[in-house]
Amino acid sequence: MAGEFGTAFMPQMTLSHYDNGWSHVELVNADSIALHPGAHVLHYASTCFEGLKAFRHKDDSVQIFRMDKNLERLRQSSELMYLPPLDIALTSSMITDLVAHYKGDVPAPPASMYIRPTHIGTEPAIGKAADPSETSMLYTLLSPVGDYFSGGEASLRLLLDDVGVRCGPDHGMVKGGGNYASALKHIMRAKKEHNAQQVLFCPNGDVTETGAANFILFDDESVLTKSLDDSFLHGVTRESILTLAKDRGLKIEERDFTVDELLERASKPTAEAGLSGTAAVLAAVTTFIYKDKEYVIGAGQPGPRIRDLRAELNAIQWGEAEDKHGWLHKV
Ligand SMILES: Cc1ncc(COP(=O)(O)O)c(C=O)c1O
Repeated sequence: MAGEFGTAFMPQMTLSHYDNGWSHVELVNADSIALHPGAHVLHYASTCFEGLKAFRHKDDSVQIFRMDKNLERLRQSSELMYLPPLDIALTSSMITDLVAHYKGDVPAPPASMYIRPTHIGTEPAIGKAADPSETSMLYTLLSPVGDYFSGGEASLRLLLDDVGVRCGPDHGMVKGGGNYASALKHIMRAKKEHNAQQVLFCPNGDVTETGAANFILFDDESVLTKSLDDSFLHGVTRESILTLAKDRGLKIEERDFTVDELLERASKPTAEAGLSGTAAVLAAVTTFIYKDKEYVIGAGQPGPRIRDLRAELNAIQWGEAEDKHGWLHKV
């Protein structure tokens, strides 16, 4: 697992083509695909993907976390990108068969096997800017990954941006390349000018999410996060953390909130801010930057609520705590 997150790949992947129907799933080399240079995806970004993980348990079984949620999101992304309709059963077996094939390579916790199903429009048609691709390719890559923060605790700096937008305002639910492409310039500016790792997009002062994770605020009052709408990605980790927080009797507030309210609440000594996502699980943010001013969040260091909820989620994923909600799927 040398190198950066997501740069090592298992040598083979599963693949299927759509052309008036899905072809039988093949196991093929994962280092190349054949694509016409005029393929729709290369010009009009007809692409979407997923990110989920398989974990090795102490009994050597391998378990995939919340695959049903990721499959449903890929189905929805494909629909919103006007890609051919996903076959859930085929995609599910494409994932489980591949993970079973590489069962022996799934690393023990805190490492895991990251799974990347990808759906792209393949029709060679450079005149179809205003029409969808009639054909597509679906493939699943596997990448063994380590602990995102290499055992250390995150302590992130986040730029609050109320001008830049991550993606089209009604396109946030799509996990598609175009959304990441449009966010990148804002993230690069935040890194260069503010030494921040990420941007929390707050169009018109309304807090949404970052370029690659959802945002959650914890304090004595509640667990506060934006309610679901089509402006941002409905994270599986976000939903899992909210469920665990609810199980603990914490009050959940899923609603719209502004940068002003966020800064006010984050200044209280017990406040904690976190980013949730498959890669980072739940990572602590300790500093906001807003209009060139820095704001220390809570006590200025990772706090107990985030640490405990992250540990609880990891314990379920790693088979060290009871899977009460039936989130694991044994391969
Ligand atoms: C834009 C964006 N929001 C949120 C998330 C978190 O989603 P999930 O928890 O399903 O990984 C991701 C991550 O993958 C993301 O890229």
